[in-house]
Amino acid sequence: SLPKKVTIIEVGPRDGLQNEKNEVPTEVKLDFIGKLQKAGVKEMELTSFVSPKWVPQMKDAKDIVNSTPKVGRQFVLTPNEKGIELAKQAGAKSFAVFVGVSNTFNKKNINKTTEESMIGLKPLVELLVSEDHFVRACISTAFYCPYEGLIDPNKTIELCRQFVSWGVNELSVADTIGMANPKESYVLFERLKREFPETLITAHFHDTRKMGLANIFAALQAGVDRYDSSAGGLGGCPFAPGATGNVATEDVVNMLHQMDIETDINLDLLIEAVDSVAPFVSRPIETGMYKLVKSK
Ligand code: HMG
Ligand code: MG
Repeated sequence: SLPKKVTIIEVGPRDGLQNEKNEVPTEVKLDFIGKLQKAGVKEMELTSFVSPKWVPQMKDAKDIVNSTPKVGRQFVLTPNEKGIELAKQAGAKSFAVFVGVSNTFNKKNINKTTEESMIGLKPLVELLVSEDHFVRACISTAFYCPYEGLIDPNKTIELCRQFVSWGVNELSVADTIGMANPKESYVLFERLKREFPETLITAHFHDTRKMGLANIFAALQAGVDRYDSSAGGLGGCPFAPGATGNVATEDVVNMLHQMDIETDINLDLLIEAVDSVAPFVSRPIETGMYKLVKSK
């Protein structure tokens, strides 16, 4: 049976804005985050402590963390020791580490092979866990890679198994370039739920081929009750050519509510959050619910 309640992890301020051509002012980001909180979002990726040379849009990470009211669970992405150190100094409590199943992607994204990344992350993750920080492991290119093509699901599971053995709280398993189909979504998430029953399992879909909602419906049937999504459908990874935004929070929330699945998110207030950032991003907001509300 389908979950009765779903947790949305809003990734708009991070995944949504990291690839944005325009420089979005810090105050606009803070207003966007505040309005998302007001709409009922309880878990959010706020920003990333990454190299400003690699991802200039996240260079205000410290100000974002400092100035955001501490409501619910707020993640920051951290690729390495330096990122974790800076994030701790800013007062972050929940950390997202990220690695690609595909070596080629991982090299382009964090300048290390997957194995090098895992060797580097192990002591860092174990320390965070021992300090009682919440750790989320983001698994990129879990289905397909823009460089290597189809990914062997056994490799994805193996990477997840390592993170689980280090004690992470959550696995966020990602279709980085929006290429997975609902059959693949069901098969992988059914297996993840079965193999890691003690770990929170989250699905992260990009909507490049407009299969995001269908992939969520498939994952719901596998029992997944946590989804990453981005208000306004913003997003994309600068090192994953061909990928577009995340599946849109307003479309996911609407679908779930129509199915009598609770999210605790208010759709009208969510649209107001999208409105607050829309004038500052370089592309039009073209999600189903946003266009529908605006055409009224
Ligand atoms: P590197 O060049 O190999 O790093 O980059 P390095 O260790 O050689 O250091 C080079 C410089 O960067 C040094 O500064 C360091 O201090 C600095 P310099 O001496 O030249 O002035 N540096 C840092 N500065 C700030 N914060 C840090 C940091 N680390 C080093 N944490 C590095 C390696 C990992 C830093 C770089 O590759 C990087 O920042 N990559 C981030 C890529 C990224 O943010 N990608 C998007 C997020 S992942 C994603 O979107 C996928 C996801 O949504 C799921 C999905 O859809 O698949 C999560
Ligand atoms: Mg992503």
